[in-house]
Amino acid sequence: MKNVLVTGGAGFIGSNFVRYLLEHDPDVMVFNLDLLTYAGSPANLDELPHASRHTFIQGDISDRPLVEDLLRRHAIDTVVHLAAESHVDRSIHAPSLFVQTNIHGTFCLLEAAKRVWLEEGRRVAPEHRFHHVSTDEVYGSLTPDEPACREDRAYAPSSPYAASKAASDHLVRAYARTYGLAATISNCTNNYGSRQFPEKLIPLMILNALAGRPLPVYGDGRQIRDWIYVTDHCEALLRILAQGKPGETYHVAGENQPPNIELISLLCSILDERLPDSPHRPHAHLMTTVADRPGHDRRYALDSSKLQRELGWRASTSLAEGLRATVDWYLGHPAWLSAIRQQPSFGEWVHLNYEARGGAG
Ligand code: NAD
Ligand code: TYD
Repeated sequence: MKNVLVTGGAGFIGSNFVRYLLEHDPDVMVFNLDLLTYAGSPANLDELPHASRHTFIQGDISDRPLVEDLLRRHAIDTVVHLAAESHVDRSIHAPSLFVQTNIHGTFCLLEAAKRVWLEEGRRVAPEHRFHHVSTDEVYGSLTPDEPACREDRAYAPSSPYAASKAASDHLVRAYARTYGLAATISNCTNNYGSRQFPEKLIPLMILNALAGRPLPVYGDGRQIRDWIYVTDHCEALLRILAQGKPGETYHVAGENQPPNIELISLLCSILDERLPDSPHRPHAHLMTTVADRPGHDRRYALDSSKLQRELGWRASTSLAEGLRATVDWYLGHPAWLSAIRQQPSFGEWVHLNYEARGGAG
């Protein structure tokens, strides 16, 4: 029996991962610790498969007594750490919470794991694992011709979000090396799919397109991200938990690298196809150039050949296939969408962010 503590399991990737884990590991017990910030929602955990093997705990990763108690009481042997503040634009606007959650929160989790797993006489879980979920953004901006980053590439983060994730990665490595914590790290490219909070590019474009609102394109729209369907990421995480070596870092890449405007155009054509009667067709006409993000990284790209070679994983969902599934999920969940639309943290933020970039109305 595996007792897994997932942090941030009511967020976008976390809730998809909890589902995936319950579906694919019949022996696992999942303890899901999430503070339920604006980005986390109990609705993301509706209709979980095998829900009797899932326990939700609302709480803060920075609350060490709480985390230590969870580790002991449930004899947790595996931590999968996803909880974070995750949006680059919010980190530029208000970085403090990113330092608090992503750096100090990760430190608190590591301290709790060290105390319970390594220091207490009982050694609740001698076969422990701490898996930390990170991002390609720690490497900073690549030029168009540079090869994709391998795991030994030097960190050069640009945004406060990326810097906070880089710091947390360094802390995890320090605990592995100094104290012998059995830790692994994965850095992943941009995820998309169901239940992503619509401040990020793809769900924001879907919501705005449905309402006939402008689709804000930052700067020249030629920036490049590598897009991975969230289920492919979940599969990679499970593979790393099962076969990854403690102390190692693995890159998880989607291998889909369209410039932003091409991605938005493809998304608009899928919306045109799915909504033949929409008065907002063709949705691409809603694309509107706005001021660029300060310090905007031009390109991210990861080389995931280590994960392919050593653990036999490779992303399997094409961009068109994943985007269709994503659009269909949002169209099929109007109650989820209207609950988000009513959240002040959504409406106020989207308005503020758009106006700050010179967008009108
Ligand atoms: P998200 O913002 O959708 O979810 C984050 C979750 O963490 C939310 O449910 C929130 O309530 C919870 N949380 C925040 N602060 C907390 C705290 N102090 N204690 C407990 N819970 C807290 O984020 P996401 O997009 O699902 O990203 C998950 C992880 O994956 C993050 O660590 C992120 O850096 C990483 N990541 C994301 C992407 C991506 O494209 N979204 C890519 C690579 C890596
Ligand atoms: P985002 O989804 O915020 O992810 P990240 O910044 O972590 O990569 O943004 C993806 C890309 O889309 C990034 O280059 C910024 C750009 N973007 C827009 O052009 N318009 C938008 O409204 C948003 C949210 C992002």
